[in-house]
Amino acid sequence: MDQSVSTKANSSILEVWGGTPLQGKVNISGAKNSALVLMAGALLCSEPCRLRNVPSLADIQGMAKILKALGVKIKQDNDVLELDPTHITTTDAPYELVSKLRASFFAIGPLLARMGVAKVPLPGGCAIGARPVEIHVRGLKQLGAEVYIEHGVVHAYASKLKGAKIYLDYPSVGATETLMMAATLAEGETVLDNAAQEPEVADLANFCISMGAKITGAGTKTITISGVPKLHSTDYNIVPDRIEAGTFLMAGAITHSDILLSPVVPDHLTAVIAKLRSIGFQLTPDAQQGLRIQSKGVHTGTEIETLPYPGFPTDMQSIFMALLTLSEGNSVVTETVFENRLGHVPELVRMGADIRVKGNIAVIHGVPFLSGAPVTGTDLRATAALVVAALAAKGKTSIEGLQHLDRGYSDFEQKLRGLGARIERVPAPNA
Ligand code: EPZ
Repeated sequence: MDQSVSTKANSSILEVWGGTPLQGKVNISGAKNSALVLMAGALLCSEPCRLRNVPSLADIQGMAKILKALGVKIKQDNDVLELDPTHITTTDAPYELVSKLRASFFAIGPLLARMGVAKVPLPGGCAIGARPVEIHVRGLKQLGAEVYIEHGVVHAYASKLKGAKIYLDYPSVGATETLMMAATLAEGETVLDNAAQEPEVADLANFCISMGAKITGAGTKTITISGVPKLHSTDYNIVPDRIEAGTFLMAGAITHSDILLSPVVPDHLTAVIAKLRSIGFQLTPDAQQGLRIQSKGVHTGTEIETLPYPGFPTDMQSIFMALLTLSEGNSVVTETVFENRLGHVPELVRMGADIRVKGNIAVIHGVPFLSGAPVTGTDLRATAALVVAALAAKGKTSIEGLQHLDRGYSDFEQKLRGLGARIERVPAPNA
């Protein structure tokens, strides 16, 4: 993350006065987890590319810096990014930039496939887990690359990658994306079995196909890639952010409001929509690519288990839990994707929630109300969950940890204010 941005985010807090019903329409930005990997995917191409609907986020700035350091020329005009990767000047991704942005590891596949060499520091862990990359590395070796890790840097070499049949031990989103990109320029056919099926994986495949790649089955468990000699330029529109959309659905639900989100692809949120309907909310897709949420005033508890797509998304777990704290009844939330993603629980308890944690399972006893309090977000989605809880809490909540929030939500408080929320970003008391 850009130092000046994080310092500014670090030195400000959000103040939220809860209890105000929301109304109106909110615009959903392009998907962070698609934009980041598509920017890295542009490294596969030896001609300029254009990406549209790119969200304005700290992480996007971070990825742009890394690509520039590799020699990519980048111009940005609002949500349009012009990327010219014609002249890659180095295949060494700089540690000081990579260490700040896990997604920069996505550069390894395209650099190796196009340049035959890549040196990318290990992304390392974060608040939600160790986040190893052995599935990425093992797959690149199966494509014929020589890969070793030295002094925290992954070194990969291959004069020409060769297609292979690869079974992923776990349907990792990042590993599927890395191997799919690497295989686009490999000799022959690659089959990825037990692949991740997330919409962002399908969006990456469509982006590569628009550059001339031969890929079938993206979005299913089995992806087949027939390598091609080179890719050509493209002008590509990124899908809407399903997690940002899910977050606004929770904001509408917890305040028992009637709001419209657009653009949204409802199919990308099937598990979330099904759970919201099962606890009492009405969700109506509309013709203009919108999704409307309405409430009946109360909602019940439920059971959630996070799983790879199309299961319930781990990125929505904390935010849905905020809603369940005010359910009529009890809920059980089991986090199976990341080993340390319940960091938001103590902060929700500080606001009066009744949650007990055992390992990766949280048992939530619904309470009649939450109370405003000073809380701190520990990661991106944990901080978003605290904002959502604060929208329903009595009195004022002050939220620290905005350096996390700004990584994944563009104009978050402005969009909420547009729906009538009482929310403000102010300098941190002792900043
Ligand atoms: C992507 O991370 C997303 N990030 C995450 O979103 C999201 O939570 C995750 O997919 C799961 O949906 C981006 O797309 C930039 P994984 P990624 O590889 O690719 C383990 C957000 O909030 N694993 O599917 O890193 C891993 O440790 C972020 O926007 C291995 O063990 O996720 C984890 O427990 C957070 N070995 C599980 O698999 C490997 O080689 C899922 O990881 C790779 C992964």
